[in-house]
Amino acid sequence: MTTLSTSLPGGSRTLGDLRVTRFGYGAMQLAGPGVMGPPADRDGALAVLREAVALGITHLDTSGAYGPHVTNELIRAALHPYPGSLHVVTKVGATRDGDGGWPVARKPADVRRQVHDDLGTLGLEALDLVYLRMGDATGPRPESLAEPFQTLAELQQQGLVRHLGVSNATPDQVAEARSIAPVVAVQNMYNLAHRHDDALVDDLAADGIAYVPFFPLGGFTPLQSAALSTVAARRGATPMSVALAWLLQRSPNVLLIPGTSSVAHLRENVVGAGLRLATEDVAALDRIGR
Ligand SMILES: NC(=O)c1ccc[n+]([C@@H]2O[C@H](COP(=O)([O-])OP(=O)(O)OC[C@H]3O[C@@H](n4cnc5c(N)ncnc54)[C@H](OP(=O)(O)O)[C@@H]3O)[C@@H](O)[C@H]2O)c1
Repeated sequence: MTTLSTSLPGGSRTLGDLRVTRFGYGAMQLAGPGVMGPPADRDGALAVLREAVALGITHLDTSGAYGPHVTNELIRAALHPYPGSLHVVTKVGATRDGDGGWPVARKPADVRRQVHDDLGTLGLEALDLVYLRMGDATGPRPESLAEPFQTLAELQQQGLVRHLGVSNATPDQVAEARSIAPVVAVQNMYNLAHRHDDALVDDLAADGIAYVPFFPLGGFTPLQSAALSTVAARRGATPMSVALAWLLQRSPNVLLIPGTSSVAHLRENVVGAGLRLATEDVAALDRIGR
């Protein structure tokens, strides 16, 4: 497999001592329906992952909870041995039950087991970045993350994890985590229409910490808004392109991990995210979520 040195929209930035493209890829949508089991089109899923790397993407987001283990295994099948520039990042804190639910799994033994599972399924000796995912499927919840985050910090000290992050977390939990060990990235739900984290994005930017919005395109419910459609029509672009371009322009610490199970959509998103939005476009888009 060749890695093309294309210039992706947004360029690159650091995640701790790693350098990643700001345009990354989120693998969750590659698992089967409801993020359970294998995909209907395994070859198609492998092709998406190979195309991401061929396009120059160096940041892949996954989790042992996807499938479970399905997206990790697809990433390994498509890309191992990994190019040195590629950084595969994972999340711990939830597992899966037989009904497709996402039960919390944040006891120290759960955290250790999930890190070791990710190392095994991805075929790695150390994970570049692991997020502790807090809250539940309904969103963040106010609770201490000290015990599970301390466990992740111990795994980092043992050399099994290079960098730490938090996900689905409140600003207080981000602060609590940072009091325990350095945090290089926060991954929370954020997009044009969901802007609860506006202040957090700016605070993290000031401290050089990456902000990685999940559901950048709306996730299971694609973003829809008259203002978004108007801006897209004015620029001759798709609403998806506008949503991604807006995120890249929102703040230099924002890293994109849009998901897709389609090579065509992946290519479309890479091109679309490079759209330059005018001040009037940004003003119209800002009115959607504020
Ligand atoms: N930390 C957490 O708790 C958490 C939670 C959720 C997700 N995540 C991460 O965030 C990543 C991104 O979230 P996501 O993938 O769920 O949602 P997303 O990126 O907001 O949206 C993905 C959806 O958009 C569609 N799509 C993508 N490009 C398109 C295009 N050009 N035209 C039309 N439709 C398009 C995809 O369908 P097609 O497959 O048909 O393209 C898919 O249904 C995930 O992959 C995962 O790694 C993290």
